[in-house]
Amino acid sequence: MEFFIDTADLEQIKQASSWGILDGVTTNPTLVSKEGLRGAKAIEQRYVDICNSVTGAVSAEVLSTAFSDMVAEGEKLASLHEQIVVKVPMTADGIKAIAYFNSKGIRTNCTLVFSVGQALIAAKAGATYVSPFLGRLDDIATDGLNLISEIRLIYDNYRFRTKILAASIRSTMHIINCAKVGADVITGPLSAMQGLLKHPLTDSGLEKFLLDARKLTP
Ligand code: E4P
Repeated sequence: MEFFIDTADLEQIKQASSWGILDGVTTNPTLVSKEGLRGAKAIEQRYVDICNSVTGAVSAEVLSTAFSDMVAEGEKLASLHEQIVVKVPMTADGIKAIAYFNSKGIRTNCTLVFSVGQALIAAKAGATYVSPFLGRLDDIATDGLNLISEIRLIYDNYRFRTKILAASIRSTMHIINCAKVGADVITGPLSAMQGLLKHPLTDSGLEKFLLDARKLTP
């Protein structure tokens, strides 16, 4: 399972990367806007800085919605750095753009996916990643994890190569549950990944070991 961090904050990316377990980064317009960046140049520079801070895929989202504009914008984003994956919304124009990018060898992440039908068509179009939004479904009392399981079943049935990138992860248990149902990738905040480290028996066990270790020195 791959771990992506869902942020445009360079410090958080560097911190997660320093653990040696980070496989990539996802961003979206909301996350980029939180960074206080203004203008295309500043945003593009941030994508390049992110790419230089990690070794894996970095999703950068197109802001346009019409096919030809998405193509121009996606090609520009992809030219910034070889690690860039063009993030495209799940719309008819988006699917057309994903098929186009696929034919040109440009990797894509189909975002804002909330149903198995949407995931099926994204895979048909040749998306590299599909991003079902687990947390946002849970927020409206719909089982987000079940969506991930159903996509896994369909992709396995037809051996689709599109990777399931479980997005909108809100908690450590979301990560564990996604691992159980076979998501290929999770993307979430650093706090959810930090939760994987914790166990009170580890803390109390270490405390005792350190206490006893002091007895070993003459
Ligand atoms: C996915 O790539 C999105 O950036 C993200 O996971 C959305 O998460 P949110 O629902 O917490 O905004």
